[in-house]
This record gives sequence, C-alpha cells and structure tokens, in this order.
Amino acid sequence: MKRFLPVFAVGMLCLGACGLEKPPAKLEFPESKEEAAAPAETAAPAAAPAAETPADPKLAAGKTVYESKGCNGCHDAGMMGAPKPGDKAAWKDRIAQGEDVMTKKSIDGFTGKAGMMPARGGNPDLTDEEVANAVAYLASLAK
Ligand code: HEC
Repeated sequence: MKRFLPVFAVGMLCLGACGLEKPPAKLEFPESKEEAAAPAETAAPAAAPAAETPADPKLAAGKTVYESKGCNGCHDAGMMGAPKPGDKAAWKDRIAQGEDVMTKKSIDGFTGKAGMMPARGGNPDLTDEEVANAVAYLASLAK
C-alpha cells in the first residue's frame, strides 16, 4: 500500500492544480501534455534572439558561417580573449579600423593584445567572401 502513496499525492496535487471543473477521468492526460509542452515553450523564447536572422543577405550568410564554422566556439564565450558578439566595448576599436582590415586579419589570422585569432577561424575551406560575411555580421552586432 505504501508505494501507492506517492501516486495518490500526485493525484491530489493535480486535483488542486488542474481545478475541479475538469472531469477527473481526463486529469492524467492534460497534465502530461502540459509537462511535455513546457520545455518547448521555455526553449522557444530563449532561442529566439539567437535565431533572429538579419534581413541583409550578406549578414544572414555571415550569421550562418559564424554559427556553423566554429567562430562561435571562441567568440560566443569570449574564449582566449575573442571579442564576444555584441560587446560594443570589445568591438569599438576593431570596427574603427574598418571592416576590410578586420576581414583581412581574420583571413590571414593575427595575434593581438587579447589573444590569437587563427586564419579563417581555423577553417581553411572558408572562402574570403564567407569570412568577410561573418566579419560583417559580427561587426553589425556591435554597432
Ligand atoms: C580559436 C578561437 C577563435 C576562433 C575559432 C575564431 N576566432 Fe576570431 N578572434 C579570436 C581572438 C582571440 C580574437 C582577438 C585577438 C586579439 O585582438 O588579440 C579574435 C578576433 C576576431 C576579429 C576582430 C579582428 C580585428 O581586427 O580586431 C574578428 C572580426 C574575428 N575574430 C572573426 C572571426 C570569424 C569570422 C571566425 C570564424 C570564421 C573566427 N573569428 C573564429 C579567436 C577566435
């Protein structure tokens, strides 16, 4: 009998939480549905800002490169001194050099005061244009 107590307690909780107007026979199903739906609902707003795709196709392409080619591996977390996307203070002086300079440095790789940025972010198969798009995307986030 003891092992049924928790089930009974959950049943009572549900009665309290679900309201009594619902027929008791249906109580189990709406509750489990709500539970299944809850993680998806909480995940949606969290994913929304990251999933926001820029209208400009160049920036949208850059976002894809940034997210799928490992740039985010260092930059999202600010690893090894990598400037984080949207961190205006970290990007101000970089943007001031001009996007062309930033792009060239990102293609060739460079070591700055903060750390080492590998050539093409360590992806030799990235084209100059793909790197340029990703740089433009990063710059756009910090403007
Ligand atoms: C291994 C980690 C790492 C990866 C991967 C990486 N970066 Fe970086 N990146 C850095 C670091 C560290 C810096 C800062 C270097 C400094 O200024 O001292 C940097 C700086 C930059 C800058 C600023 C350049 C400037 O002129 O100041 C841009 C733009 C940039 N990265 C773009 C990218 C792009 C695009 C990718 C993906 C193709 C990428 N990074 C991948 C570590 C990384």
